[in-house]
Amino acid sequence: MPHESAPNLLIRLDPASSVALQRQIYDGIRRAILQGIARPGMRLPSSRALATDLGISRTTTLLALEQLQAEGYLVSRAGSGSFVAHDLPDDLTRTPPEPLGFTPKAAHPPFSARGSLIAGTHPPSIRILGAPRAFRLGTPAVDLFPRKLWASLAVRRLRSLRPADLDYGDYSGFMPLRQAIADQVRTSRGTQCEAAQIFITAGSQRGFELLCSVLLDPGDLVWLEDPVYPGAVTALRHANAKIQPVPVDSEGLSLEAAVATGGDARLVFVTPSHQFPLGVHMSLPRRLALLRWASAHSAWIVEDDYDSEFRYRTHPIPCLHGLDTEGRVIYIGSFSKSVFPALRLGFLIVPADLVDKLAAARRVADIHPPKFEQTVLADFINEGHYDRHLRRMRAVYRERLDAMADALKRHCSGVLSLRSVHTGLHAIADVVGIDAEDLTSEALASGVEVIPLSAYSLGGARPPNALALGFASVPPAELAAGVERLAGAIDRVQSRRRKIL
Ligand SMILES: Cc1ncc(COP(=O)(O)O)c(C=O)c1O
Repeated sequence: MPHESAPNLLIRLDPASSVALQRQIYDGIRRAILQGIARPGMRLPSSRALATDLGISRTTTLLALEQLQAEGYLVSRAGSGSFVAHDLPDDLTRTPPEPLGFTPKAAHPPFSARGSLIAGTHPPSIRILGAPRAFRLGTPAVDLFPRKLWASLAVRRLRSLRPADLDYGDYSGFMPLRQAIADQVRTSRGTQCEAAQIFITAGSQRGFELLCSVLLDPGDLVWLEDPVYPGAVTALRHANAKIQPVPVDSEGLSLEAAVATGGDARLVFVTPSHQFPLGVHMSLPRRLALLRWASAHSAWIVEDDYDSEFRYRTHPIPCLHGLDTEGRVIYIGSFSKSVFPALRLGFLIVPADLVDKLAAARRVADIHPPKFEQTVLADFINEGHYDRHLRRMRAVYRERLDAMADALKRHCSGVLSLRSVHTGLHAIADVVGIDAEDLTSEALASGVEVIPLSAYSLGGARPPNALALGFASVPPAELAAGVERLAGAIDRVQSRRRKIL
């Protein structure tokens, strides 16, 4: 006769055993508690549910549970059931087993070489765990996001859920959201596109990964801005692409330098509205030259337009996609900066004939992003909240940027020199007289997050001795306090340097 098991506790009964069933249940639950499988405070199945699962009488399970209660392994709460006790009788004598995954002696096979390459792409320890702090990069003003409004839109959607809403959705994304995005980019980003060309992704990162896997074969050559956004590098390494770093000058990616490398790229990845991380925008002559080159060489251009919604003291710059007449540019947009990063929603604008292919290709990974979040975002945009939020945030970010710039002038002049900022949520500060990496380590040790530009280098050209400073995620007073701590870090690095010299 097969062994029966209780699904939650893995109790196995052997009906052929000479040990009574009641004892087997007692032993099984006690073992689960002592091995840390059933943790203190965990609710146990009721005697009735245990009896049904194990196919035995309720009296047997009841007696076993009562014995465990009497010995102090379980406590019963009236009306709620039995729970594993917090003070266990054998507690002092047992050492809880480490979960296997955390055992230093784990003897699993090694990570693959490709896995190690991918995992090693992101610069380590540049983010201190926990709430946003000065000068976190990539995080918008999550403190000012209209959470109550978002909650009310979500509750309204939840209340009106129909059975069909729980089924798989459109693989290309929720149509009303695609429509809302198409309307939005036509007016704000200066490009023509239909809702059918919009493909919703779980953030831009999933978009990069998907595009790399369908547009490139292993070994295909890709031109990449140097310095560069690490997310693009990870996706390209994942696709086994061959990366050619291309320097960035004051007009964006240097096409001349790229062509001089000799190889014919199959894809070029650019951030023309706001080069990441340097912050320059690609000039019109450079954009036109890049489009002409892509046309002559039958190459793709992937345009990452991640934070161009936020502009200060400058006119909007239409996106590269709007200049493309041949369907060579694929636009990647993200809601991580304009809404909030945990939403994990972004989109691609792709030639209409690619949408079905992408929809088929995404089935290898996520089928489609969660439908519910897409419906709430569609309402947020369609009811005018998105535009209102962006308008409000532009003013907030300008204020935060000014506060950071003022404080830097007061406390760090002579060492940190801020480049002018026209777009986005971060600034670049050139570092004079000390090493940006040394300063980063010292700043991190005092709880301030900064990133040296060398962290984004592909190793082609020597990166500027500079820091990237996010100014969006915390209020002006916190930014000013962060600058003072940064000034303290500068002092310590300078005095160490003086001692060495
Ligand atoms: C250059 C760049 N692209 C895209 C993104 C957004 O990525 P995601 O939409 O995956 O959050 C970021 C976020 O920091 C970024 O810096």
